[in-house]
Amino acid sequence: MSAHAAPSRRLTIAELARKKDAGEPIVMVTAYDHPSAQIVEEAGVDMVLVGDSAAMTVLGYDSTVPVTVDEMLVLTKAVRRGLSRPLLVGDLPFGSYEASDALALETAQRFVKEAGVDLVKIERGGTTVARARALVDAGIPVVGHVGLTPQTATALGGYRAQGRTAEAALAVIDDALALQDAGVSLIVVEAVPSAVTAALMPLLRVPVIGIGAGADADGQVLVFHDLLGIYDGPAATFVKRYAEVRAASVAGVSAYASEVRSGEYPEPEHGYGMPEAEVARLRELLAGR
Ligand code: KIV
Repeated sequence: MSAHAAPSRRLTIAELARKKDAGEPIVMVTAYDHPSAQIVEEAGVDMVLVGDSAAMTVLGYDSTVPVTVDEMLVLTKAVRRGLSRPLLVGDLPFGSYEASDALALETAQRFVKEAGVDLVKIERGGTTVARARALVDAGIPVVGHVGLTPQTATALGGYRAQGRTAEAALAVIDDALALQDAGVSLIVVEAVPSAVTAALMPLLRVPVIGIGAGADADGQVLVFHDLLGIYDGPAATFVKRYAEVRAASVAGVSAYASEVRSGEYPEPEHGYGMPEAEVARLRELLAGR
């Protein structure tokens, strides 16, 4: 959308539910700053997640664990300023909601008040189910996240697919059902066998967004930096690259560096002109000093 186009109407959670019922896939992607928000808006996605994956993709941490609420809020506010139509989801970082309902509410309210998010996302079943219920009761729409939950990856044995035995699959399904009972609006299912998603889908009324969870989910989410080839780290099995932006960016900056060093840049058209008479007067003024 150009800077002058009229902002389009924000999607609603009810419209996402209608998409699920109509079998129309829901498109979700992460974004972490104002330009990436404008790009995903223009590309016509339905939902934008300012994921705590920002810790790794834009802040240079080794995992999602260290990122703080204040860091996430800076990024989320920048994304808010670049979006109008897609729903915006704020990701509550590790340590900002688990300890109590009161803590979860305080953090979620900051994301709503300060960054204008439409929904907040929290990870895991277990004690998170009570946190989800408390947020929903307080009027804050929640996205659940089950399967591989990166904030607790260490306890899960690392960044690896979850639910690969029948018992483990049942645990993922039970987490999703408990979150649905708690009133969440959507559930993200990450890195589980496609058969687990297929078993889960008939049991859930709320839309399910998959990431590495097969084709049966109601929608898909990918990390912006992964799908565009910006992030230069090991990619998960489920990542499909739709562009090679990092390579193009390195090539672009290298070309700039080499033109500055060779004197090829800047050319006359990259500078500002001055009337000849003013140039002549400037010379006189300098000479008179
Ligand atoms: O932080 C994130 O980007 C996420 C998505 C991968 C779902 O949680």
